[in-house]
Amino acid sequence: MQFYIDSADIEEIKKANQRGWVDGVTTNPSLVAKTGRKHEEVIKDICAEVSGLVSAEVLSLDAEGMVKEGYELAKIADNVVVKIPMSEEGLVAVRRLSSEGIKTNVTLVFNPLQALLVAKAGATLVSPFVGRLDDIATHGTEMISQMTQIFDNYALDTQVLVASIRHPLHILESALVGADIVTVPYKVLQQIVKHPLTDRGIEQFLKDAQKA
Ligand code: E4P
Repeated sequence: MQFYIDSADIEEIKKANQRGWVDGVTTNPSLVAKTGRKHEEVIKDICAEVSGLVSAEVLSLDAEGMVKEGYELAKIADNVVVKIPMSEEGLVAVRRLSSEGIKTNVTLVFNPLQALLVAKAGATLVSPFVGRLDDIATHGTEMISQMTQIFDNYALDTQVLVASIRHPLHILESALVGADIVTVPYKVLQQIVKHPLTDRGIEQFLKDAQKA
């Protein structure tokens, strides 16, 4: 399973990348807004830092506008993936961009049938949001399990990128059902490195070594 970082903060991305944790990056308009910088500049900097795929989201709601923005974003770097919200217009844009060899990631997906349509449209990635489903008392990772099963049944090429990850259990459950990628906030990446018994063990080994 690949690990992407869900961030637009270049310092955070650099740190995670130097530790070897980052196979790719996802951004969204809210994350980019937090940086206070221009979208294009942020994406350019991230693409210069990371060799894996970097998702950059369009703001248009109509297919024509999405395709136009998609062309511009794809020009920034070879590893840009054009992120498109799930909608009828979005699926039209995905078909167009995919047929021209431009990579796409369909975002804001909340059920396996939406994902099936995304795969049929030829997207590179589909982003189901687990945390936001949990927020409304619906099992987010159950959706991932159904989605991976459907994708396996029909040998679909689109990769399942689990998004809206809030804690380590989301990552564990995604791995158990065979998701291709998880996109994880930096804080949660740090959480999965740590275990209190690891810390206690290191402390004890050091103490014993000093006694010898
Ligand atoms: C993914 O591509 C999104 O940027 C992100 O995972 C959304 O997460 P949130 O629901 O915590 O905002």
